[in-house]
Amino acid sequence: MSGLDVRSFTVGMVQENSYIVRADSQADRAVIVDPGDEPERLLDAAASLGVSLEAILLTHCHFDHIGAVAPVAAATGAPVYCPVIERPVLADVMRWVPPGFGPFESYEADHTLAGGERLNLAGMDFEVIFTPGHSPGHLTYAVGGALLSGDVLFQGSVGRVDLPGGDWGTLERSIEGLIRAYPAETAVYPGHMGVTTLGRELQTNPFLSELRLSLSSPQAADAPPART
Ligand SMILES: [Fe+2]
Repeated sequence: MSGLDVRSFTVGMVQENSYIVRADSQADRAVIVDPGDEPERLLDAAASLGVSLEAILLTHCHFDHIGAVAPVAAATGAPVYCPVIERPVLADVMRWVPPGFGPFESYEADHTLAGGERLNLAGMDFEVIFTPGHSPGHLTYAVGGALLSGDVLFQGSVGRVDLPGGDWGTLERSIEGLIRAYPAETAVYPGHMGVTTLGRELQTNPFLSELRLSLSSPQAADAPPART
């Protein structure tokens, strides 16, 4: 699936990245990941690409990633795949939205995911990976040599861990799991800021300095990193 076509749309007050993903640039079917806001703009983008949106995938249910789920689902009929732990958040969005944002419409997820699933959607195979730490149910989607990783890992940064359910040790282990499982050249399409690769972040990301050390030790291939 080397022809994977990923289009990024930065939406809303928090500048969240929504992605329209299809098997190649000629495909007329696509999925949308984390439609966070500006539903009309996302629907217009799908129309101008000439794609029908066949599924809505969510990495996690912070409001900036789900604000446009209900209107996009209503307009397309696409089923929504939601982290199982965070389903109640999607179902009662405004309860979790800080003052000054929204209003956003709640949605009852059509499917829930816990990680470990494989999905075939719009002619693409997605692996679903459980990557908690930024939020308790956070998922990363692997497809065609790329990761759609929400708020796990950013260019030069990582997801914040000070929100409910956040934990740095957990997030670090999630990042380690991705680095161990996928090649360094794997493209990372994050929930905020620009595209990067796993290898680039392992080499340069200041938040991964401990991980860098532990993965470069001789035992790294087999043993979990020693934690102090
Ligand atoms: Fe988030």
